[in-house]
Amino acid sequence: MTQQALLHKALWKVKENKPFIEKDPNRLQFHLMPPVGLLNDPNGLIQYNGVYHVFYQWNPFETAHGAKFWGHYSSKDLVHWQEQPPALVPSEWYEKNGCYSGCAVEADRKLFLFYTGNVKDVNNQRETYQCMAVSEDGIHFEKRGPVIHTPKGYTPHFRDPKVWKRGGTWYMVLGAQTENEEGRVVLYDSEDLENWEYKGPVTGTNYNGLGDFGYMWECPDFFQLGSKDVLLVSPQGIKAKGHQYQNLFQSGYFIGEWNLENNEYKHGRFIELDRGFDFYAPQTFDDDQGRRIMYAWMGITDDKEAFQPTIANGWVHALTIPRELDLKGDRLYQKPVPELEMLRNSLDFDQQVSIENEEKSWPELKGVVSEIKMDVLQLKADMIEINIRGQIKLIYNQAEQLFTLERKSYKDQSLESRSCQLSSLEEIHVFLDTSSIEIFLNGGLEVFSARFFADPAHQEFTVSINGKLDVAMKKWSLHSPNGMCGLAL
Ligand code: FRU
Repeated sequence: MTQQALLHKALWKVKENKPFIEKDPNRLQFHLMPPVGLLNDPNGLIQYNGVYHVFYQWNPFETAHGAKFWGHYSSKDLVHWQEQPPALVPSEWYEKNGCYSGCAVEADRKLFLFYTGNVKDVNNQRETYQCMAVSEDGIHFEKRGPVIHTPKGYTPHFRDPKVWKRGGTWYMVLGAQTENEEGRVVLYDSEDLENWEYKGPVTGTNYNGLGDFGYMWECPDFFQLGSKDVLLVSPQGIKAKGHQYQNLFQSGYFIGEWNLENNEYKHGRFIELDRGFDFYAPQTFDDDQGRRIMYAWMGITDDKEAFQPTIANGWVHALTIPRELDLKGDRLYQKPVPELEMLRNSLDFDQQVSIENEEKSWPELKGVVSEIKMDVLQLKADMIEINIRGQIKLIYNQAEQLFTLERKSYKDQSLESRSCQLSSLEEIHVFLDTSSIEIFLNGGLEVFSARFFADPAHQEFTVSINGKLDVAMKKWSLHSPNGMCGLAL
């Protein structure tokens, strides 16, 4: 199909489904979602001419994976978003099975997109091309076609370019799989964004001292934070180990020092970015204020994906809220960006409370779209349990120093949990949307993200404790920003 025909068909799909989708009580109020169909990875994050752009992997035609478009939102403040026309549609031979994930950079006042053209031939054999597109207004893009062909030694699982500039040279990292089925991040460099030279692997499975660490690495992102070089990546094929790596695929980070002269990256251990159920393929960008901001897909490809309840209403998945990254010691901290305070309607609850061997609830803490902050002043308890909307429990076991998120599975209502070690519980900061929760612990040292689907009538928030807790609690109800999903098409 031609570009025009694909675009037309997608916009028709949006229009046709809009009235129906908007009535879905699980539609989120302050998260980016697809107008119809399936969303996965955030792509092309950038602040260009003062405007924030978030592109995303989008299948407008189905609530399943397929030939992806790049959907597009823009914003002046990371809170109020305007839907823009799709930036890329899979119309050319080198991308006919999907304009897969990639990034955006600014050069010569233009906006350049780099993405993976995914192609399947008649025998379902995959080919991949790293492609470029250019825009002068950040809205309309002209495709320039492939700029990189897969080098020898790698399978066609070679994708997700992330480009940046350092010292006058452009660099690109890509996610890759060797012919021996080992996951890798590989590096290219370029003087002009068009001619790219392969520089070799940065790190990966059985390379650079890492041992066996998965068969394919997706969506790398490589940036400086403080005096360190941080690599985010989403490896596939890592086995669960204790409380770690519980999801089918993981997203995490390495912290180290990268020598750009010889491409040597000395790094520490891999640490998961998010300990919840629904988090994958994060990407970052630095904005005009010098912040390193991250979005991720609040979802993941696994065997439960097809059971997401919103599929019945013609859409599935969302992105996380934007989180600023900070480096403290050898850990990354994630903080919701302060712009999200614009979402606050009213401060419904602001009290210091003592709870002792009891279960307590407060009518003001009830809600569906809210922000709750608990500063723990004193805790002496075997167990503290916070019950949210009858679907979610946050549990802290002080003796075991273990924090757990428990939810009722949206597949069959069975209980499932994710946990992480947490030596002390100091702060719990929760963002609740109609069908999602994001929990920031101890200033963002650990984060849990999850989707959950509760009866709209169930709005309770209960704290029960076996022991004693002194806590300063605040709760705001949040609103849906105007124009959040307004189509500017
Ligand atoms: C990660 C991913 C990427 C790929 C994209 C396709 O979720 O598999 O590696 O580019 O999704 O939609």
